[in-house]
Amino acid sequence: MQFADFWYIVTLSEQLKSNTVLARSLLGEWLAIFRGEDGQPVALRDRCLHRSSRLSAGNVCQGALQCPYHGWVYDRNGKVIAVPAEGVDFQPSQQRQAKAYATKEQDGYVYVRLAENPSVDFAPFSMPHYGEAGWETVRVINRFANNVTNCAENFIDIPHTAFVHPGVFRTSRQQKLEMTVERENGAVLVEYRNENSNLGWYTRFLNREGAEIKHSDRFYMPNITSVEYQMGRDRHLFITSQSIPETENSTLVYTDVTYNYGIWNKLARPFVWWTAQHIIRQDVEILAIQGEVIAKYGTQFAHTPADTIHVFVESIRAAIARGEDPRLLPKQSVKVTFWV
Ligand code: FES
Ligand SMILES: [Fe+2]
Repeated sequence: MQFADFWYIVTLSEQLKSNTVLARSLLGEWLAIFRGEDGQPVALRDRCLHRSSRLSAGNVCQGALQCPYHGWVYDRNGKVIAVPAEGVDFQPSQQRQAKAYATKEQDGYVYVRLAENPSVDFAPFSMPHYGEAGWETVRVINRFANNVTNCAENFIDIPHTAFVHPGVFRTSRQQKLEMTVERENGAVLVEYRNENSNLGWYTRFLNREGAEIKHSDRFYMPNITSVEYQMGRDRHLFITSQSIPETENSTLVYTDVTYNYGIWNKLARPFVWWTAQHIIRQDVEILAIQGEVIAKYGTQFAHTPADTIHVFVESIRAAIARGEDPRLLPKQSVKVTFWV
């Protein structure tokens, strides 16, 4: 198994209009993304076969992509279908074939997979409750100057919230929390107990009645985190992030906040958007600092029991990096007490 076996978001469906081309980086590969004549997304290596211009700087006309330098035209399979300098003498040839990657569209996202013959034929992750009646989704996109592992860890890390998001999300009160952390089948599942009023104004709205808070966090290989809060009826929230590896230290994160607040659904939208963006910006800042130090001194971490989640996430991603299948790692379940 390798990271290239999985599907990664390259754009929102709505951003990929016909007759536009987008430049993207994915696992170090450069991509030109556009829609073919049939409207299906196309991903080609962002390099012209002729003299190595960037195809993403070109133009799309009727589902074909024209290089900006000497006008070679590529179809949705990457085949060169016109060479202006050859005029009417142009002959299509097998050799003139740009690298094309598999694409899929699901839940309002366009996905690309780099592996031609993946070890396992995974499907793109299904975003929880997306498009379902009674649920609203707010989407935000943020770039982090850090790698996927550290981004994913941050999104399901409670101890940082009191320091990085003081007041908004959580206030430090030296309260005892309990969690059960399980690693199974390439996923990490965390269930929290004892979580109550130690939450800032963000969750005060969510939990006016002081109902029991159900909170669980999940990590799914190789790059997905999902946080779930449920507080009584009509207060149900998922924060799901897909961390897309652009390069070794640049990660583009697509975050869906999908919620069911009953009658408040529509009214809550701007509030949910602002809060999500506010919180994530704080994480962008702290992860940039961490990224700088790791670039200088490398990754040597010290752990507390509260970091059990991260140790499991790292073990899964390290297995893929070694070419192994993390679903074969032994199942583990740990009960942890920590303080926030
Ligand atoms: S470099 Fe693309 S057509 Fe010449
Ligand atoms: Fe955070």
